[in-house]
Formats: sequence, C-alpha cells, structure tokens
Amino acid sequence: MGTIETFRSVVRFKPIETDPVKRRLDKAANVDDLRLLAKRRLPFGVFDYIDGGAEDERALRGSVDAFRKIQFRPRVLRDVSNLDTTTTLFGKTVPMPLMFGPTGFTRIANSEGELAVARACAAAGIPYSLSTMGTRSIEEVAAVSSGSKWFQVYTWRDRALVEELVQRAAAAGYDGIELTVDTAVLGRRERDVRRGYTLPPKVGLGTMLDGLIHPGWTIDFLRNDPITFASVAGLHEDDGSSAVNLAQFINSQFDPALSWDDVEWLASIWDGPIILKGIQTVADAKQALASGVAGIKLSNHGGRQLDDAPHSIEMVEPVAQEVGGQITIICDGGVRRGSDIVKAVALGADAVSIGRPYLYALAAAGQRGVEHLIELFDEGLRRTMALTGARSIADIDRELVGWAN
Ligand code: GLV
Repeated sequence: MGTIETFRSVVRFKPIETDPVKRRLDKAANVDDLRLLAKRRLPFGVFDYIDGGAEDERALRGSVDAFRKIQFRPRVLRDVSNLDTTTTLFGKTVPMPLMFGPTGFTRIANSEGELAVARACAAAGIPYSLSTMGTRSIEEVAAVSSGSKWFQVYTWRDRALVEELVQRAAAAGYDGIELTVDTAVLGRRERDVRRGYTLPPKVGLGTMLDGLIHPGWTIDFLRNDPITFASVAGLHEDDGSSAVNLAQFINSQFDPALSWDDVEWLASIWDGPIILKGIQTVADAKQALASGVAGIKLSNHGGRQLDDAPHSIEMVEPVAQEVGGQITIICDGGVRRGSDIVKAVALGADAVSIGRPYLYALAAAGQRGVEHLIELFDEGLRRTMALTGARSIADIDRELVGWAN
C-alpha cells in the first residue's frame, strides 16, 4: 500500500456540529476555559463580582495555586480496570467526594440560576447547597430536585427569620443546614468598589453600554423575572427587591455578634446534620467537634472575605490529624480539577466543595454547562485515580502525595 492510501485509511472527516452550545462546550477542556467563556458572555461588573476576591486577592489566587504545590507519588501495576469513585457523606452514598457549595445571586450568571445547578446536581447525584442569598427559593429548588439538598444560612439579626427558613428547608426535604461563620462583616471586594456595583445590577449609562456589548446576557436578564433573594422575598423589607450595595446590605443585616452559642441554638431548631462553613484553624476545628456539628468546611469564602486567610488545602492535613474520622472535613476553595479532589482526599478531607467553577459553567452554557463541568470533574477524578493506582476513594491515602519544594 502506498503512503497516500495508508494516510487515507486513518483519516476521517469530522461531522459538522450544528448545536452551538455543544460546539462551545466541546472546546471547554477545563475550568479555565469555562471561565473565559463566562468572561466573554457576562457584563464586566457581573463577571468581576463572580470572579473577584477581597482586597489584593492573594487568598483567592493562593488557594488555587496551593494545589499546584502538591505532587503525586503514583503507584503502578495495580490493575485499575475497575475504579470505584463512590463514597459516603453524612450517611449517604455519593458518586464522588464532591459537593456544590452555596453561592449568592446565582441568577446573575444565567436567569435559570439555582434551578439549573440543582437539576444538574440531582441528575448526577451530587449534593447541592442553596444559599440564603439564593435567587431561587427553598421550595422552587425542591420542586426541581429530588437529590441531596442542603440549605445555607447566615445568622441575620432577625433570628425569627432564620428559624422560619430552617423550618421551610425541613418541610421541603432538605438534608442538612450549612452555617456560614466567616461573614461577621463583608470582605472588601475592590473590583466591586471600583465599579460601584450593586446587586441586582442597576441599569445606568455604564451598565447599558456593558449590556450592549454582552447582548446574550442582557436579553436573558430583561426577558426574565426580576432577581431577588427568592427565599426571603416578602419576609423582610430588604429582600433584594430593590437594588442594594451588597456591602451595605450585609453589614446592616448580618449579626456580628454571632458566637458558638448560636451554633447550639441552630442545633436546637434543626434535627439533621449541620456543617460550619468557614473554619480556618485547627483550634476552631476542635471547637466545632466539641460543639457537636456533623461537619466543617475548611473555607476562606473563595478568597472573598479576609485577604491572606489560610488556603483551604493547606489546612486539610493539620485539621485531619486532630479531628479526622470524628467529624466530616470538606475542603472548599481552589478546587479546579478532578486531580484536586484526589489531593484533598489524600491529605485527609472527606470531600471537596466548589463554587466559582459552577458559576463559570452556568454563565457559559446554563444547565448544560454545569453538566459539562460535572463530567470534567468525574473524568479528571477517574483519570487521576487510574494514573496514581488508586482503585477506590479509600485507596487514596497520604502516601499518594507529597508537597513540592
Ligand atoms: C456572598 O456570599 C459573596 O461571597 O458574595
């Protein structure tokens, strides 16, 4: 056979993809690609609200970069033909050690908002946590998801409001409550300061121009019902029905007097598991264990609160050494790949939690974007397990990783 014939026999024409969303997603090989798609589609102010962090953004960047300091110590010749990525979280089997954390204002990424995220999670069996500052309500999310659901609360000054939300979450079949403990006051997000950003976005001259440059988002925003804190709408005068400056809003509504007594109070009004989100030291992890909660999220709020806060992945090992096996440890922050799940589990986490990656995916392509993201994590986890010789989540141990110099 001549060279040309040989060549022909291995070359196939690629069929033309007619579905524009699929075409977009096929090219999104990782979270960074989804971020770029989101950047193209979202108005500048909206993108910066999602993408940005506090002050000089060192906690934000450092949390992602810290994962790059961990190298694998792969084992070979271990027959990885049958991988099991399932694990148990809070008494339930989940397909992989991954949770979707709560994000506020999710509808600014795409008008479907929390419903799209909750549907994608339910279809994949991944636990999803709805934020108090969510833009779809407790009941709306429950109506589209029979999967594992958590509800996140802040302690507002108005405790009766928190109690009512918790009762509604119980009535709607939510599995657990997450209490965010790192928001005594709001972090200074300087990108938002510079843009004079309000939530929901207010339409001024600058935003109109921004809207014209990003017509896909603008049409979606204008065609759909107004963005509010859907669970709180009507219950409180500041329910997000009017545009607010987020810093002013949080600082007026959130209770800086929040203390360990409130954790006890929350446990007295909620029967199921409680996670404390925003634990950042070994000392507080020990106190969380003593308080009787089921889990902790090692988190610096995606680098959006205290700049130069600890990087979550660097907290995992010291915390696991003290309280591992006695309380569920979730690493939240900087997780961008399936391989990051393996790193966190190897250091002692029971699971990881993500926020920004799914907002990028949602902005890039709605529910299908989020489904694509879940596939990326699943594939990445499987590939990393195969290449490191871990056949199950229990096989992922400390021997599998080391800190790079
Ligand atoms: C809300 O929790 C935010 O980080 O903006």
